Amino acid sequence: MTRLNGKTAVITGGATGIGRAAAKRFIDEGAFVFIFGRRQEVLDAAVAELGPNARAVKGSVSDEADLDRLYAAVKAERGTLDVVFANAGAGSQLALGKITAAHIDETFDTNVKGVIFTVQKALPLMGPGGSIILTGSSAGTTGAPGMTAYSASKAAVRNFARTWAEDLKGTGIRVNVLSPGATATELAKEALGEEGQKVFASMTPLQRMADPAEIGAVAVFLASDDSSFMTASEVAVDGGLAQL
Ligand SMILES: NC(=O)c1ccc[n+]([C@@H]2O[C@H](COP(=O)([O-])OP(=O)(O)OC[C@H]3O[C@@H](n4cnc5c(N)ncnc54)[C@H](OP(=O)(O)O)[C@@H]3O)[C@@H](O)[C@H]2O)c1
Repeated sequence: MTRLNGKTAVITGGATGIGRAAAKRFIDEGAFVFIFGRRQEVLDAAVAELGPNARAVKGSVSDEADLDRLYAAVKAERGTLDVVFANAGAGSQLALGKITAAHIDETFDTNVKGVIFTVQKALPLMGPGGSIILTGSSAGTTGAPGMTAYSASKAAVRNFARTWAEDLKGTGIRVNVLSPGATATELAKEALGEEGQKVFASMTPLQRMADPAEIGAVAVFLASDDSSFMTASEVAVDGGLAQL
C-alpha cells in the first residue's frame, strides 16, 4: 500500500486514539509522520510502536512557541510538509447552569485556537497537492446534554474548512473535516463514562462505537490523492449517528 509514498505528515494528538491509529495507517501507506502531544512518555511509547518513520515532538497546540518547535523539526528533517492532520482535541461535559469561564477557555484553547495555529503555522512548509484534515465531531452537528463548549468548538472547526478553502484558493492545498461519531478512545471513556458510551453506541445506527482504525482509514483517503477533488467538505465517519 503506497498511497502516501514519500509524503510527510504532522498528526497532532498522534500518540493516542484516533491520531495514533491514523499515524499507523499513514506509515503503512508510505508516509513519514511527526506526532505531537503533551506527554513525553506517551509519545515515546507511540514512536517505539510506529517505528523508524515516526518522530515525536512534545508540546501543546495552544502554545504557539511549541508549534514553532514542531514545524522547525519538520523543516530540519524533511524540508517540506504534505499533510497536516489537526486532530488534537479535548472536551468534558458541563450542563447549562454550571458552565465556567475556565471550562470554555480550556476547550476553545485546544479545539479552536489550537487548530487555527496548527494549520496557520504549517502553511509556509506546504505547497500544491497538500492536504489539511481537521478532526470535527458528530457533536458539531447534533445536540447532546452538557456539550455546550465542546459541540460549539467542533461546529467552529466545521466552518474552518469552508473559510480556509476560500483563503487557500490558488495554492493547490485542500482542507476537509473528518467528523467521527462515538469512537472507542480514552477521550470517549473520560468524557462519556462507561454508561454514556453504551448510550452512544445504542443511538448509533450501526449499534456500536467505532474502532479508531476505522477513522484512520478515512484520514488516509483525505490525505491522499484519492480525494484530489475534495475541499471544504465534511466527511462523517459516525456509523450514521449524526445523519438521521
Ligand atoms: N472518541 C470519540 O468518540 C470522538 C468523537 C468525535 C470526535 N473526536 C475527536 O477526535 C480527536 C482525537 O480524540 P481521541 O478520541 O482520539 O481521544 P484521545 O486518545 O484522548 O486523543 C486526544 C489527543 O489529543 C492530544 N491533545 C489534547 N490536548 C492537546 C494539546 N493541548 N496539545 C497537544 N495535544 C493535545 C492528547 O495528547 P496529550 O494529552 O498527551 O497532549 C491525545 O493524544 C479529538 O479532536 C476529539 O475531539 C473523538
